[in-house]
Amino acid sequence: MAAMTDRMKELFIKVPAVVLSTATADGTPNSVPVGAKKIIDDQTVLVSDQYLNKTLANMKSNPKVAITFWEGHEGYQLKGTVTIETSGPRYEETAKWIEDMGNKIGFPLKSKGAVVLKIEEIYGVSPGPGAGRQLA
Ligand SMILES: Cc1cc2nc3c(=O)[nH]c(=O)nc-3n(C[C@H](O)[C@H](O)[C@H](O)COP(=O)(O)O)c2cc1C
Repeated sequence: MAAMTDRMKELFIKVPAVVLSTATADGTPNSVPVGAKKIIDDQTVLVSDQYLNKTLANMKSNPKVAITFWEGHEGYQLKGTVTIETSGPRYEETAKWIEDMGNKIGFPLKSKGAVVLKIEEIYGVSPGPGAGRQLA
């Protein structure tokens, strides 16, 4: 397991969307923007599935994912393994959060699932001498 620093968490919350990268079991990559994201704890983040399609299929056959986020020239990459919850308290909480978000923007939104990433490795992606270095 790897833990995010306060700065990483601050940025994760602040950016409007993160990039969720998955791959098919035989390695074809797929990256999509995801705006519905939350921190559960230092080692765990959650994204809500409203529209995930190839991404969802990929995660079901290959649960290893990467999430990349940045602002300006500062960025991070979280890598780990996801579980997908479509029932239970965490899903219910996510469904309510997304429904409320939809009500706020006047557009109906429905969560199909809570995608929970347990972070195993963290890399920096900021340009410069330390680019790509493992941070945790
Ligand atoms: C700015 C932005 C934010 C998005 N946020 C979400 C999100 O929070 N949840 C979601 O399921 N899809 C979200 N989408 C849609 C996905 O990026 C994408 O369209 C969906 O996963 C289907 O692509 P796929 O077949 O490659 O998975 C968002 C798209 C954009 C452009």
